[in-house]
Amino acid sequence: MSKLEVVILAAGKGTRMRSTLPKVLHRLANKPLLQHVIDTAYALIPHAVHVVYGHGGELVKQGISDEGIQWAEQAEQLGTGHAVEQAVANIEDDSTVLVLYGDVPLVTAQTLQALMSHVGDGIALLTMQLDNPDGYGRIVRNIEGKVERIVEQKDASADELAITEVNTGILAVDGSKLRSWLRRLENSNAQGEYYLTDIIAMAVADGFEVSALVTKDEAEVAGVNDRVQLAQLERVYQQRQAERLMRAGVTLLDPNRFDLRGTVECGTDVVIDTNVILQGKVKLGSGVSIGSGSILTNVVVGDGVEIAPMSVIEDAVIGNGCAIGPFARIRPGTELADKAKVGNFVEIKNSQIGTGSKVNHLSYIGDTTMGAEVNIGAGTITCNYDGANKHRTVIGDNAFIGSDSQLVAPVTIGEGATIGAGATITKDVGQGELSLSRVPQRAIKGWRRPKKEK
Ligand code: UD1
Ligand code: CA
Repeated sequence: MSKLEVVILAAGKGTRMRSTLPKVLHRLANKPLLQHVIDTAYALIPHAVHVVYGHGGELVKQGISDEGIQWAEQAEQLGTGHAVEQAVANIEDDSTVLVLYGDVPLVTAQTLQALMSHVGDGIALLTMQLDNPDGYGRIVRNIEGKVERIVEQKDASADELAITEVNTGILAVDGSKLRSWLRRLENSNAQGEYYLTDIIAMAVADGFEVSALVTKDEAEVAGVNDRVQLAQLERVYQQRQAERLMRAGVTLLDPNRFDLRGTVECGTDVVIDTNVILQGKVKLGSGVSIGSGSILTNVVVGDGVEIAPMSVIEDAVIGNGCAIGPFARIRPGTELADKAKVGNFVEIKNSQIGTGSKVNHLSYIGDTTMGAEVNIGAGTITCNYDGANKHRTVIGDNAFIGSDSQLVAPVTIGEGATIGAGATITKDVGQGELSLSRVPQRAIKGWRRPKKEK
């Protein structure tokens, strides 16, 4: 087996994106286009992945998670053949080179594997049939149907323009032959470019067979040139993921209104309502239900958890049987133990909430360690920030915090303690104690409300 060298072309400018960001860094499912292609390339277990970059220079390198990528700079974009040439200096002789485009994000490892099984000692092209082949290089075949060459749109005769089989641009080729053919490329064509596609005629002239694998999946080989195409491919990508999840047993109330921008692992009988977004790495236990409009980013959710609509949860661990929302915000560093409840208009940050504890209404709990079976009354605030430093609040098991209390950290509330409503707690509260901090109520009899003068 010869070594696999993947060459990804990503030097183009992408003028039609009308952006300061290099085209290949635009995101599909929150991942740069180029990263999609790189990830697919690595799935093929290659000897090396080479990325030819140019426009955007260092920005492109910085935008990609580098897993030992061989970067090759193409300072001037002189054509696809010239681009591949920048990378071949670093490839092994005994290799198969697979050429991919950094702006064609949805190509699958499966298709590429099939393509590579056709290379032999020559070239395998990925082609497709299009009703409207406009803009693409055309596949010219001889009377026996064998591929002879590729002619670019701008160099094509009227007869050639009528050909509906087009070059997707993706090809696999023997490494050492590629190197020798690239050396012979010329740029005497309509665009004055070194066309990679000219190696096809050279291979045929040298007596090597060129095989073509015709794909039926247009989206898989579709490139992104503008933001309309980017949005179209995003939809295709999301539909594929949604289908995969539903076939694996997840209920999506509307697969057209579900977005996964990362990965999700699901138990059985997960139900996801409309307009839910899952980002990063999400894990959902069995019997989890997620209400409409909720956004989960890097979250682990236990079994039987109910997340009511419009809840936003990030970098958190949710135990079994918890109930969250509606309108809950759970921020990084939060862990809910089993059966905890976080209700509406509650924000929790960097806190541990113990088993069965409840924070049901309109509260802010930050930098807090809370025991089990605690009840937090409506409108309770942990005052964790003194303007310079953050301080912790510790609340023991079975404590009861009356509504509208402020717990000024650092402060510890003992096990089983009770805080009367409306308290401002600045000192530690002992186990089982009742703490009140409240101005005594007084009545003024016969008092008259001021009136406006007429
Ligand atoms: C190319 C093919 C054409 C094919 C089409 C499919 C050639 C000569 N033509 O045409 O047969 O039908 O793709 O989309 O190969 N790039 C570089 N450096 C360069 C030029 C291009 O890195 O100097 C990169 C681009 O960023 C892009 C890819 O190569 O990702 C294709 O370049 P593009 O200019 O879009 O090629 P086409 O003219 O569309
Ligand atoms: Ca193109």
